[in-house]
Amino acid sequence: MARRLPSQPPNLPGFSYVRILGSGGFADVFLYEQNLPRRQVAVKVMLAEVVTSQVRQMFQAEANLMAQLSPHPSILTVYQAGVSSDGRPYLVMELCSAAIGQRYRDEPLALPVVLGIGIRIASAVETAHRSGVLHRDIKPSNILTTAYGHPVLSDFGIAATLGEAESSEAVGLSIPWSAPEVLLDETSGTVASEVWALGATIYSLLAGRSPFEVSGKDNTPADLIARITKSKPQPIGREDLPHRLEAILSRTMSRKPEARQRNVLELIRELQSVETELGLVQTPIEVAVDDWALATSANPDDRTRIKGVVSVDPSGGRRKRKVPAGVIATRTPPGTLPRQSAGSGASREPEAPGRWTKALVWSLVACSVLVVLLGSTAAFVLVRVAANGEIPTVRNVSGRVDSGTVIFSWNDPGLQAQDAYQVSVGTAPPSIQRGTEFRVDLGTAGRVCITVTVNRDGKTGQPSTPKCVDSASGT
Ligand SMILES: Nc1ncnc2c1ncn2[C@@H]1O[C@H](COP(=O)(O)OP(=O)(O)O)[C@@H](O)[C@H]1O
Ligand SMILES: [Mg+2]
Repeated sequence: MARRLPSQPPNLPGFSYVRILGSGGFADVFLYEQNLPRRQVAVKVMLAEVVTSQVRQMFQAEANLMAQLSPHPSILTVYQAGVSSDGRPYLVMELCSAAIGQRYRDEPLALPVVLGIGIRIASAVETAHRSGVLHRDIKPSNILTTAYGHPVLSDFGIAATLGEAESSEAVGLSIPWSAPEVLLDETSGTVASEVWALGATIYSLLAGRSPFEVSGKDNTPADLIARITKSKPQPIGREDLPHRLEAILSRTMSRKPEARQRNVLELIRELQSVETELGLVQTPIEVAVDDWALATSANPDDRTRIKGVVSVDPSGGRRKRKVPAGVIATRTPPGTLPRQSAGSGASREPEAPGRWTKALVWSLVACSVLVVLLGSTAAFVLVRVAANGEIPTVRNVSGRVDSGTVIFSWNDPGLQAQDAYQVSVGTAPPSIQRGTEFRVDLGTAGRVCITVTVNRDGKTGQPSTPKCVDSASGT
C-alpha cells in the first residue's frame, strides 16, 4: 500500500462521501453512500497525477473487464464507472472488507480457510483466462471479503483487452507476487506467471509473509527481485501443512514457467486433492458450467499473446518500467474436452474446436434415445441410485491408443448433478471431471493405468478396477 496522503475525494452526483478506505499505487478507494438505491459503496478514484488519456483508457478497460466478469461468485461486483468533474476516472464497486490483505501478516490464516480461498480465487482467475484476460496483479490485498464472508478477487487494473492494450500505460507490478520472468521483462504476463502469483499469494496467507521475504534481513524491492529471480522460496515452517501442499506451492513458483502447473485448473485440482487428503469437504470449482464440462488444458503458449505498453508508480512496492499489458489473445478453444498428461513429455496441442462439442451433442442425443428406449427400467435404476444415497461405482472402463494418446472411457453409473469423477493415473494427484472420457499421453513407459472414482460432496465411493493400456492396444 502506498505511503502517501490520500487525494481529495471527488464530488460525485448521487453519492455522499463518508471516509477513505485505502490507497494503492495509482488510486484511492473511498467509502461513499449512494443515494438511490441507498447503499454503501466503495469508489476507486484514480490519482490526478497519473491520469493521461492512456490511463483513462486503461481504467475504462478495467471497468469493462470487471463488469464482464462480475457475475462470477468470486469476482468483485462493479456497479458503475465514470469520470468525476475534476477529470479523474472512478469505479463504483461492492463494499467489501479488506481484512485478508491487511491482517494476514499479523495472524496467518487456518489451513482449511486458505485452501478454500485459494480454490475460489483460482476459479476466478481460470474464468478470466477463459474469457481471454490475464489479471496481472494477483496478491493478498486484491482478495477482499464480501458482506456474506465470500472471498472475491478485485482489481483487474493491469488486465486489458487486446485492442485497449495497444495504448495502455501506467500499471504496476507488485514485486513480491510477480513471477521472475515478469520481473526480468522476459514477458509481461502469461497463464504460467498467473500460476506463480496465485501460488505466491496462497503461500503468503499461510506464512504471514510473502515467499521471498526473509525476516531479520533487508527486504527492499531490489533484494526481493534478486531472490525471486535466483532462489527458491523458504519452507513455510508451519507444522499443520501437509508436505504435498508445500510441494504444490513450490511447483507454482518454479523458476522455469514450463515446470509449473500447466494452467490454473490443474492447480485447483491439486488444491482440491489436498482438501480430500485432509478429510475436508472439497471446495467446488466455480467456472461457467458449459466451459467446465468442456474444459481443456490447452498449451499455455498457445493461449497467451501479449501486446501494449505500460509503466508504473514508484511507491507501494511497485516497480516503474515499461511492459506490455496482459491479454490472452487466443482463447481457450470453446468446444474441447479435458486432455490430461501423465508426465513431462506430454503432448499439449489443443483439440480441434467443435469436434468434441459435436461428439458430446451426439452422445447426449444417443443417451436420450437410450433412456426413452429403456423406459421405466432406466428410470428405476436412476431413482434407486439416488434414493439409497450410495456413491455409484464406475465399471467397465475401456481404453485404446490413438496416435500416442490413450483414450479411456466408461459408462455413467448414475452421477448426480454435483458429482464428479476423480481419475487417478499412477501416483499423480487425481483429476476431477464430469465427462466420461479421459485422455492421457502414453509416455515413454508405453503403459498407462487409471482408476476412476465418483466423488460426491467431497467423499469418494469405491474405485473402479484399474484399467491398463499399453502400446500394443493401438488402433
Ligand atoms: N471494494 C472495496 N471495498 C473495501 N475496501 C477496498 C475495496 N477495494 C479496495 N479497497 C481497499 O483499498 C485499498 C487500495 O486499493 P487498490 O487501489 O486496489 O490498491 P492495492 O490493491 O494495491 O492495495 C486496498 O488495499 C483495500 O484495502
Ligand atoms: Mg487492489
